[in-house]
Amino acid sequence: MSVHQKVKKVTTHVLQEMKNAGEKIAMLTGYDFTMARIIDGAGIDVILVGDSASNVMAGHETTLPITLDQMIYHASSVVRGVDRALVVVDMPFGSYQGNSKEALSSAIRIMKESGAHSVKLEGGREILESVTRILTAGIPVMGHLGLTPQSIYKFGTYIVRAREDDEAEQLIKDAKALEEAGCFAIVLEKIPAELATRVAKEVSIPIIGIGAGGGVDGQVLVVHDMLGINNEFSPRFLRKYHNLFQEMTNSFHSYIEDVRSGDFPNDKEQY
Ligand code: KIV
Repeated sequence: MSVHQKVKKVTTHVLQEMKNAGEKIAMLTGYDFTMARIIDGAGIDVILVGDSASNVMAGHETTLPITLDQMIYHASSVVRGVDRALVVVDMPFGSYQGNSKEALSSAIRIMKESGAHSVKLEGGREILESVTRILTAGIPVMGHLGLTPQSIYKFGTYIVRAREDDEAEQLIKDAKALEEAGCFAIVLEKIPAELATRVAKEVSIPIIGIGAGGGVDGQVLVVHDMLGINNEFSPRFLRKYHNLFQEMTNSFHSYIEDVRSGDFPNDKEQY
């Protein structure tokens, strides 16, 4: 029996066992109770309460505006819907970059107030002190390298990162530093597949990719994107498993028509 079939609850140790056994890790974002219940029931390994909630749930252009309180609200809703998956919560922009003390108190708030199992921070060497301090408090940390959306105004665009040798070498150093600090996994976003494969080979902790090819230890997608609810986002790396945008629109059209025509509710749909 494979590792993921054996476990009733996914922990950071299970993810490491999965990597060691060559089993791929499946991760999706989730922001609310209902969706978390469905995703968890389907058998996902990890649910990321991503700060992409800023875009997907709140309609902001970037991930920067979402607050710590809002992330805790989303995370606690997800936690209530989950029996098996490991829940990882993004630390929002501004909650950890100031100094390591501030980072630790933000991480503690997330863990205490949401009941989640771990946190994720964007960055490498520049946030290492914060990562170490959070880990020292016993909070599992997932890293995030490559395209880091909280730094979008520094990058200027959402194009593929680390195509140049300098940036690629730095990314490998950062991944090794995060591993050494004690992170349990790292997300690599939108980097060349060859580089991501190399990181997954040279680093012993699980590497989860998004737009980083198939040579890594697992994949993550934004749930609204893979369900095709969001029809304004179609990057090359995205596989859409549905066109829910169209299906939902059709359902809403039918409902509006039924209400307007008086067809809904019928005799059986009333008391
Ligand atoms: O916030 C998010 O959804 C993420 C994933 C894209 C990895 O960080």
